[in-house]
Amino acid sequence: MLGNPFADPGARLLDAGVDIARFDGRDDTGTLESCYHLVQRCLRADQPADQPPWSLASFTAKWVEGFDGNPHESWAGSDASGAVVGCYLLTLPSRENLSRASVVLRVPPDRRRAGLGTALLRHCADRARLSGRTQLAADAWDDSAGAAFAAAVGATAGIPNMHRSLRFDDAARARLPALRRAAEARAAGYSLQSWLGPAPEELLEQVAAVHAALADAPRNAGVEPSVWDADRIRRAEKLIAEHGLVSHTVAARHDASGQLVAITQILIDASAPDCGIQQLTAVRPAHRGHRLGLLVKVAMLELLTSAAPNVSYFVTDNAGANDYMIAINAQLGFEVSGVTRTWQLDLAGFGAP
Ligand SMILES: CC(C)(COP(=O)(O)OP(=O)(O)OC[C@H]1O[C@@H](n2cnc3c(N)ncnc32)[C@H](O)[C@@H]1OP(=O)(O)O)[C@@H](O)C(=O)NCCC(=O)NCCS
Repeated sequence: MLGNPFADPGARLLDAGVDIARFDGRDDTGTLESCYHLVQRCLRADQPADQPPWSLASFTAKWVEGFDGNPHESWAGSDASGAVVGCYLLTLPSRENLSRASVVLRVPPDRRRAGLGTALLRHCADRARLSGRTQLAADAWDDSAGAAFAAAVGATAGIPNMHRSLRFDDAARARLPALRRAAEARAAGYSLQSWLGPAPEELLEQVAAVHAALADAPRNAGVEPSVWDADRIRRAEKLIAEHGLVSHTVAARHDASGQLVAITQILIDASAPDCGIQQLTAVRPAHRGHRLGLLVKVAMLELLTSAAPNVSYFVTDNAGANDYMIAINAQLGFEVSGVTRTWQLDLAGFGAP
């Protein structure tokens, strides 16, 4: 018998007066919803106004199932009255980056600067160390409380991740025909294909091969790229559906070899159908230089004009050094809305017992 995995070996009343307990959002929907509302208040305070809303369904899927099949733990901190005053979701990668963990840690605006964040982080660091992790990563918007907190606890800032948004109005639509002509002029010998939802079975291995092309996108030092195979694609698709998201994919095929060589994917939350959330855009290395990145993205915007007519804006993010992708987004009319970075904390040097 392993016993109850949610019995809390690490919880204790910490110096900031917070009682930290693990919860399973499948059974404990009260705590899950308290965390959801707490996170919503943080998002309103901390992120640019053009970021998409986050539905309870999607939050639940993330905090209950995780996103990439990785082991994860949800913890909530309560004050003496029992009110939830902070929470964190710790993810422990199980396929690559085995010495690393990542955390989403939140304290609501009206409870900040009282040591709760530090108490939760110490607890989280202990949990990560218990799983043999030596580095803990978290994302924060530049110039936010999260960035100041991360710097104060001794974490190191990673490369900038630029967030952009595109108001999908008549002016944006009017740019598409000329961009398509410009892309097609360099993309002879390639054809487009699109699908809604999961990839067709016969394309699965090829879709995984295009995802693998993301391995050379700029990323933080020491972080290993994800290894993509058919199983991981299917698991990601299942999670997308569980999150209440619908995916649209446009791909480019190399006519001569029949190979799928480029993909772009947009997710739309059924409960917020005005926003298109950009997922990957990737072109296999041997096929770069044919404007396929621009071609699939233009084709996606054209497709969604009819397939998802409620979408009025798109959000995307890329590493600041990803010049080619940024140039494509600039041509489409995307504008910068903010910058996030991944902060990395060396667990050996932080709050060890
Ligand atoms: C980051 C966050 C968890 C901090 O929670 P908190 O309870 O306010 O943290 P603490 O009170 O333990 O702060 C510890 C120290 O961090 C620094 N700090 C925290 N917020 C700060 C701010 N807004 N400005 C400057 N320094 C700040 C201070 O040095 C602080 O110590 P001090 O209050 O004695 O000066 C909270 O602001 C939050 O939820 N932000 C949004 C989520 C986020 O960005 N999370 C990513 C974290 S890496």
